[in-house]
Amino acid sequence: MPNGRLKEQLDKCEHYQKLNAYLDKSESYQKFDAYKNKVLALGNDSLEKTIAVALSLCFVCAILVSFSAVVLRPLQIENKAMDMKKNILDVAGLLDEDTDIHQAFADQIEEKLVDIITGDYVEDMDAVGYDQRKAAKDPAQNITLDSNSDIASIKRKAKIAKVYLVKKGDTIQSIILPMHGYGLWSTMYGFLALEADGQTVKSINFYDQAETPGLGGEVVNPNWRALWQGKKVYDDAGEPVLKLVKGVVDTNRPGSEFQVDGLAGATLTSNGVSNLVKYWMSAEGFAPYLDKIRNDG
Ligand SMILES: Cc1cc2nc3c(=O)[nH]c(=O)nc-3n(C[C@H](O)[C@H](O)[C@H](O)COP(=O)(O)O)c2cc1C
Repeated sequence: MPNGRLKEQLDKCEHYQKLNAYLDKSESYQKFDAYKNKVLALGNDSLEKTIAVALSLCFVCAILVSFSAVVLRPLQIENKAMDMKKNILDVAGLLDEDTDIHQAFADQIEEKLVDIITGDYVEDMDAVGYDQRKAAKDPAQNITLDSNSDIASIKRKAKIAKVYLVKKGDTIQSIILPMHGYGLWSTMYGFLALEADGQTVKSINFYDQAETPGLGGEVVNPNWRALWQGKKVYDDAGEPVLKLVKGVVDTNRPGSEFQVDGLAGATLTSNGVSNLVKYWMSAEGFAPYLDKIRNDG
């Protein structure tokens, strides 16, 4: 029971009085109160008191943790959505220190759904609420890949992909494509931003990966990411040939526009990045969509 001034204040509170009246009448509470008094009267070295205190502590902590999880859930969802928008603005080259993320995203980015097989837009679904990562795990919404075509080691992919367009009026400025694939330790999720020609790279970023910091984790290094700008994805035959090479790219050699420096000491992650870019830019990924963008505008 509270003491002193707090008790005085509480005694004046109508709800507190009602609660007390209810508890006084409750048989279970009376039993609990009697047991509590009995336990508190035991010596501190009593086994029963130790167990009762430990269990009470667990109970209180469990309630606190559950309460926090429920209360913080909407905030977590909001932060996750905000973080995703930030990554998309970043790869689109539209992120400054003082950018209002929600506003910039709403003003400059259009979310579209694309049928991964035909490359057509899917207009009868809500693009904003669609979660491609969730869809890739749902048997009703995914395609299982056979091991020969699964060069990015992803096992399954969503039938419908979510792409992001940066537009000025009706004209597409850049196309942001989601990609993922296995590195050395983890599936790396990221975006590739292409110019409106569907061929020239604007930027790349990985927003979710667990490669070793300083080795494969250098996929997030801005200096390495900057090397991608201006690189080309497709050769004259329309094959996606952009890849990472060991060491530093010799820009004087023909074909260097299709090459990016590999990550030092991280050939396996580098191979993972090459594979996932190749996969998502191939006919299995966004090639049909990019063909349509090039042909239909
Ligand atoms: C603790 C530890 C973490 C490593 N993390 C990575 C990694 O994230 N990505 C990677 O490609 N290689 C990583 N490696 C190195 C690989 O085992 C392998 O040696 C390397 O990919 C070969 O690349 P290199 O030929 O460029 O040296 C790690 C090695 C160790 C010992």
